[in-house]
Amino acid sequence: MAKDTLTITDNRTSKQYEIAIEEGGVIRASDLRQIRTSPKDFGLMSYDPAFMNTASCRSKVTFIDGDEGILRYRGYPIEELAEKCDYLEVAYLVVKGELPDADHLARWKNNVTIHTMVHENIKRFMEGYRYDAHPMGMLLGTVGALSTFYPDAASIYDLESRRLQTRRLIGKMPTLAAFAYRHSRGLPYVYPDNDLSYTGNFLAMLFKMTELKYRPNPVLEKALDVLFILHADHEQNCSANAMRAVGSSHPDPFSAAAAAVAALYGPLHGGANEQAIRSLMEIGSVSNIPGFIKKVKEGERRLMGFGHRVYKNYDPRAKILKKMANQVFEVTGKNPLIDIAVELERIALQDDYFISHKLYPNVDFYSGIIYQAMGFPMTMFPVLFAIPRTSGWMAQWAEMVRDQEQKIARPRQVYVGEGERHWIPIERRPKPDMREEAVSEAI
Ligand code: ACO
Repeated sequence: MAKDTLTITDNRTSKQYEIAIEEGGVIRASDLRQIRTSPKDFGLMSYDPAFMNTASCRSKVTFIDGDEGILRYRGYPIEELAEKCDYLEVAYLVVKGELPDADHLARWKNNVTIHTMVHENIKRFMEGYRYDAHPMGMLLGTVGALSTFYPDAASIYDLESRRLQTRRLIGKMPTLAAFAYRHSRGLPYVYPDNDLSYTGNFLAMLFKMTELKYRPNPVLEKALDVLFILHADHEQNCSANAMRAVGSSHPDPFSAAAAAVAALYGPLHGGANEQAIRSLMEIGSVSNIPGFIKKVKEGERRLMGFGHRVYKNYDPRAKILKKMANQVFEVTGKNPLIDIAVELERIALQDDYFISHKLYPNVDFYSGIIYQAMGFPMTMFPVLFAIPRTSGWMAQWAEMVRDQEQKIARPRQVYVGEGERHWIPIERRPKPDMREEAVSEAI
């Protein structure tokens, strides 16, 4: 009878080991440690740079099937959530695990909304950033600084404290993001307007000028809300992993979230949609597409906004955004880059190179075009990602804190450096040119 185990023969010793296969296809890496050549031997380790094939946790938050192009938060398909919910309802789902009833939703919205204000000192130290500071750098610094305003956040094993910090951070992120944007424009900060929706208030804090009451355009308010829903979580991505890894040494969640913002800052993660826009601008017109595709196929270029580590099919978020782009353009006017993007996608999806490499548009292919049409500068793109991803980070962090199996994140290494050697007097050390080589390799 078939057994859920794996039998391994160690050809060094001819010994056999039987290892359990869990969850339909997972072995525990620590089960490999029993495979050793002598009692003193450390035992086998797996080597997996970039966690290409290693699960670091068990999670109930987000499910992705990359081959089928499926994304679900807590079991609900992203398409249904994007159509039927608003962002705060989805944030409740992501953080708490279930969709709220009307009463809980109203309380949650109130509980988040009453935390949109920030301490006046935050405003003051934001003023200390240079006039041309990158808004994501400002966000990174201020999110970390929140820990100094809320020392109670250190009580990470207190459920009520975790809930409070979650509401605080989700509530304050749009305010910090908007302040960063206004600073970079030399504009006065706008305080939150709690009569408005989550995204309506964010738009007000960004774009309000001298009018007494800012009234967000409902189409843009809804579009931003959908974008926020699509970015709420994406399981163990680089920033969620940073949130968990830093959180595993038990600092307060604001400090861990600062690490997550830092991870998202990088061009391979939150900065990819800027690269996608730059590629489209470089192509410049539909007639230049075949030449660009040729360069991609010859390995000279990458088509940014295409391909994904997990999705080997159309990214479901890109499908939603492609449709939504036209609704936004009816208000903002068309972003001419959309014609290049649509034609590029059409040609690429019929091309053998893209078909055989399973390269499809990802979320970044269309999100930047929409943000640009809405008037956001490219430096704001990662900031617009960080705001909604906060609910995902907090959900992943809380799951990690409650998980009895988790410990401080501390990977092993395969040491490939020198064996033991002994100190030599300075006059007998190797010549400087050799040492320089060694030093430059080390840094
Ligand atoms: N354009 C052209 N060729 C590509 C592209 C692309 N965008 N992406 C992958 N390939 C090719 C590679 O050249 C490689 O080909 P080969 O096997 O013939 O050498 C093959 O497809 C596999 O590529 P990898 O880089 O090994 O795949 P990986 O899973 O490591 O990379 C990644 C995924 C980084 C997203 C990649 O597809 C890429 O660079 N895309 C462009 C950047 C981008 O859009 N990033 C946003 C991702 S979504 C997000 O972060 C929210």
